[in-house]
Amino acid sequence: MIETNILVIGSGVAGLTFTVKMAERFPERRITIVTKGDEEESNTKYAQGGIAVVLDDKKDSFTKHIQDTLIAGDGLCDVEVVEMVIKEGPKRFKELMLWGTNFDVDNKGNLDLGKEGGHSEYRVVHHKDITGLEIERALLQRVHQLKNVTMLPHHFAIDLITEHHLAISNFKSISCYGAYVLNQNSGKILTVKASSTLLASGGIGRVYGHTTNPIIATGDGIAMAYRAKAKIKDMEFVQFHPTALYNAEEGTSFLISEAVRGFGAILRNKKGYRFMLDYDERAELASRDIVSQSIDRELKKSGNSCVYLDCTHLDITVFKSHFPNIYKKCLEQHIDVETDWIPVVPASHYLCGGIDIDKNGKTSISNLFACGECTRTGLHGANRLASNSLLEALVYAHNIFNYLVVNAPTLNVSKIPEWNDEGTCITKEHILIQHNLKQLQALMRDYVGIVRSDNLLTKAINHLDLIYNEVEELYKKAKVNTTLCELRNMINVAHLIISQSLLRKKNKGGYFNIDN
Ligand code: FAD
Ligand code: SIN
Repeated sequence: MIETNILVIGSGVAGLTFTVKMAERFPERRITIVTKGDEEESNTKYAQGGIAVVLDDKKDSFTKHIQDTLIAGDGLCDVEVVEMVIKEGPKRFKELMLWGTNFDVDNKGNLDLGKEGGHSEYRVVHHKDITGLEIERALLQRVHQLKNVTMLPHHFAIDLITEHHLAISNFKSISCYGAYVLNQNSGKILTVKASSTLLASGGIGRVYGHTTNPIIATGDGIAMAYRAKAKIKDMEFVQFHPTALYNAEEGTSFLISEAVRGFGAILRNKKGYRFMLDYDERAELASRDIVSQSIDRELKKSGNSCVYLDCTHLDITVFKSHFPNIYKKCLEQHIDVETDWIPVVPASHYLCGGIDIDKNGKTSISNLFACGECTRTGLHGANRLASNSLLEALVYAHNIFNYLVVNAPTLNVSKIPEWNDEGTCITKEHILIQHNLKQLQALMRDYVGIVRSDNLLTKAINHLDLIYNEVEELYKKAKVNTTLCELRNMINVAHLIISQSLLRKKNKGGYFNIDN
């Protein structure tokens, strides 16, 4: 049993930003971060393009950024939230700089601003094409200086502790008392008791076989919150990034940042034709949903496996200094950006929906907060504007901190039962886990992709039921392990995506169903 004031689940930008603020303000409060895998492993680590923020008030304005966000969100954004996040952005960004995060500057010493799809102005601050890595570095360094923070890497949160575990009958509302956490090295399960719990557990990319996300992105936080009966919304809005490096095999695909198109790269089909002009007058810089859907159409029309990003007309010296990592990764694949077109395809990238939270990051469960990609705030609506995600995490981490400064929750529970694994044994049926994982990812790719239909969605939910039953049967018999828990979580997330897709009767932003 561990007792802590605050339990933070996840060590990406959301979890770490919140921790830094809280731990610095309240040195007497103990914060425990549990994170599966190495402490820096997260979607944050791979962020390339940067953070969208209004800094140049001669050319840019809050009104323009707000407008771009609302247009991308296709009528489903919460306008008040959009205004709040965008106006708060510059302050939160400056705080990140004060904490030691480095951003690129031009030869006059001004912050270098990039541009991405859907943005009407240059406003994306970045650290070359490895912005996320730099943010993780700076935040982890800061966190390790704080004596009241305990970082537990290789600790996997299995389930939130709520009234459901306390054998209380007829409870009227649900509260969170912490979480059961698997020590991935020893196999022991800890009961972590906390007055407040923050889910900062990131995205769901791995539910699809082909994704830009690293292996940690299995939607654990959303699944845990769902099982605890929290409100989950907008799950049908999975965002597919248009330009993942083409890779015939399933798994993580390296991202070719949208900033490369902002820098002037052109999308061509195999014949060399610049097809984006046929779909949107903004061409390659239309919002992400439009570019991904257009590529999908081109591929279906031609039967080809990928389209191409042409950078051969660009100044290669400047390209290399802006995008050194992309240049290097392409070269490793024998693609010389100066002379070769880069083969690209859309891949699952980001979830616009998630755990429903209010402006203070409160979920529908008492003492449970959520921040970052696992949440649905209303900022993104039906499609997230590029580089608005890191911004959202920074702003909400601050809002949750502010709320807890004034409202410190207390824990009114004395005894929490230990994890009960009576009657379970270590599973030898790993093949069952691997097989069902592959089935799930193929199902999501083929039936619940960029273009959906009622027929395929209905088939998908029926097929998912079979996978669910087989995995639940195993889960009841087996001692928990990370891969089994992740698979179970991905099945929950897939169920939410498919069932909420079936409820949507009008196409919006990133959601396109041929029957609507
Ligand atoms: P993450 O950074 O994903 O962190 C989640 C953390 O939770 C991880 O530490 C993980 O290990 C931990 N975790 C998960 N489940 C558990 C569990 N069960 N138990 C314990 N720990 C758990 N957005 C932008 O705004 N600009 C960009 O330029 C940009 N580029 C991107 C490029 C790529 C390749 C990708 C994949 C995403 C990009 N995004 C970008 C999106 C953005 O990076 C993410 O949305 C954001 O970083 C999410 O931060 P987070 O803290 O919510 O989650
Ligand atoms: C990118 O660099 O293209 C990713 C930006 C984002 O997901 O916001």
